[in-house]
Amino acid sequence: MILEEYIKEELIREKVEELGVLITNHYPKDTTLTIICVLKGSLLFAADLIRQIDLNTNLEFLDLSSYKGSIRGELVLNKDIDFSIADKNVLVIEDIVDSGNTINFIINEFKKRNPKSIKVASLLFKKDAYNFDMKIDWIGFNIRNEFIVGYGLDYNQMYRNKKSIYLIKDEQEK
Ligand code: IMP
Ligand code: MG
Repeated sequence: MILEEYIKEELIREKVEELGVLITNHYPKDTTLTIICVLKGSLLFAADLIRQIDLNTNLEFLDLSSYKGSIRGELVLNKDIDFSIADKNVLVIEDIVDSGNTINFIINEFKKRNPKSIKVASLLFKKDAYNFDMKIDWIGFNIRNEFIVGYGLDYNQMYRNKKSIYLIKDEQEK
C-alpha cells in the first residue's frame, strides 16, 4: 500500500504537549484524573498524553467492538473498566472521532455511573463525518473525511506502530 505522510511525528509531539498543558490547566491542582484509554487505537496517544498531564492520574482501559451481525454502529463493551468512576473526574482519550458513534456510546454509558465530571480528548476529529451534538472537549487535529493510519490507528490491524500519521493512497486495495 502507498502511504502519504499526513501529520509528521514532530507535529504530533508538539500538539500532544499543547493538549497536556490545556488539560492540566483546566483542573484544580489537587485533582486526581481518571484517564480512560480506548483500545486499541488510543494506546500511543494516551501513553504520550498522560506524560504531559501534570496531575495525579489513574489509568484504565476500555475495549469496544461492533456487535457481530448487527447494523453498523451498534457497539458492545468488550472489556469494561474494572473501576468505579462514581464521583471521579474522568477523561476519555480517543484516537479519532469519525461518525461519533463510539465516543457517544462511551459517554452515554459512563454518565449513568455518575462521575463528578467527564471530558473527552481526541487526537483527531473528522468534523464533516460527525453526526452528534456532543462537544469534544479537546481536539488535536481537525482532519478531512479521509482514511488515515499510524500512531495507533490501523488499517486491518496494520500500521499502528508508525510514528507519523499517513493517508492511504491506493483506494483499490482498501
Ligand atoms: P466512530 O465512527 O467515531 O465511531 O469511529 C469508530 C472507530 O473507527 C474509531 O475509534 C477508529 O478506531 C476507527 N476509525 C475511524 N476513522 C478512522 C481512520 O481514518 N483510520 C483508522 N481508524 C479509523
Ligand atoms: Mg478508537
